[in-house]
Amino acid sequence: MRIAIGTDHAGFVLKSAAIDYLRSRKIEVIDLGAYVLDEEDSYTDPAFKVGGAVADGEADAGVLLCGTGYGISIAANKVPGIRAVSCDTPEHARIAKAHNDINVISLGGRTVKPESVPEILGTWLDTPFEGGRHLRRINKIAMAEKSMLNIHMHGGGRITIFNHPLIQHKVGIIRDVNTSVKQFRELLQEITGLMVYEMTRTLPLEDKEVITPIEKTIVKTIGGRKMAIVPVLRAGLGMVDGILQIVPNAKVGHIGLYRDPETLKPVEYYCKLPFDIEERDIYVLDPMLATGGSSSAAISLIKKRGGRRISLVCLIAAPEGIEKVHGEHPDVEIFAAALDSHLNEHGYIVPGLGDAGDRLFGTK
Ligand code: RB5
Repeated sequence: MRIAIGTDHAGFVLKSAAIDYLRSRKIEVIDLGAYVLDEEDSYTDPAFKVGGAVADGEADAGVLLCGTGYGISIAANKVPGIRAVSCDTPEHARIAKAHNDINVISLGGRTVKPESVPEILGTWLDTPFEGGRHLRRINKIAMAEKSMLNIHMHGGGRITIFNHPLIQHKVGIIRDVNTSVKQFRELLQEITGLMVYEMTRTLPLEDKEVITPIEKTIVKTIGGRKMAIVPVLRAGLGMVDGILQIVPNAKVGHIGLYRDPETLKPVEYYCKLPFDIEERDIYVLDPMLATGGSSSAAISLIKKRGGRRISLVCLIAAPEGIEKVHGEHPDVEIFAAALDSHLNEHGYIVPGLGDAGDRLFGTK
């Protein structure tokens, strides 16, 4: 095991106690400074260095030291993927590991005595993470982090969750069990239509000349790349018109998958894509990203037929589905109107909205 350590001037007093203890457990220590006591040393740089080492996988975990452990953990928590907490006692360390699975622990040189360091670090290292509901919360934080940063992160692709008030308002109504089939259909289209604005933000523009009633001028026009939308049957059909209202020239493919009752794996039963699929920006439509099995299989199918620039558009996504799709297709950007908590034992998204296909077609 490798642990990165970093300190500012006020945590320096604990540094040798921490390193000695880690080495006594045969842990490899990556010392990222400070190396000498200098009153000018701030906690920011060591926080980012240690956080970066852990996030990049160079170190398995990190130890940070400052006067209170507060400033340095606040800074470390800005590094995507870091969960840092200041722990003054072994009990803090136990809970922070068991419930929050902290990958960086910080200690305060002004609040913790050097002789307490072994017990605090030992408790942190030896306490197992409890998983279960705590894992769901951590996953949700990780997904929210991804979507807020809207960047590619290690082991995953890009994800955009829409926080626009109109979208959030409509998602609230569509979740309601009392929303009728008619309203459900209309809302799904409306929400998808609103999402198109963001989904198409990278479409290239070209110059074009027009004559206004006043004079000749150059205007912008969407040029070059063409769009294809591919609903995954059957619930994905409910999103098609929402997009076509805004992008009427998009071509529409269809993919049908069912789940093999024995292997539980998605099996293709229908696939018809635009003939020039390899030249198009492709948007796979699947309202509920639950386990991610069918979305991921649909994307694989499109790739086999030559599709390259693929995005996945969902109404509601669960962390499990995002992990699955980005695990298999890190190149695929996911757009979702909402990020939910987790899947229940029947594979439904919680809180979700139930079975989108049934609600859309009134089959239940
Ligand atoms: C430095 O004097 C001190 O403010 C710092 O080490 C830390 O306690 C901040 O949270």
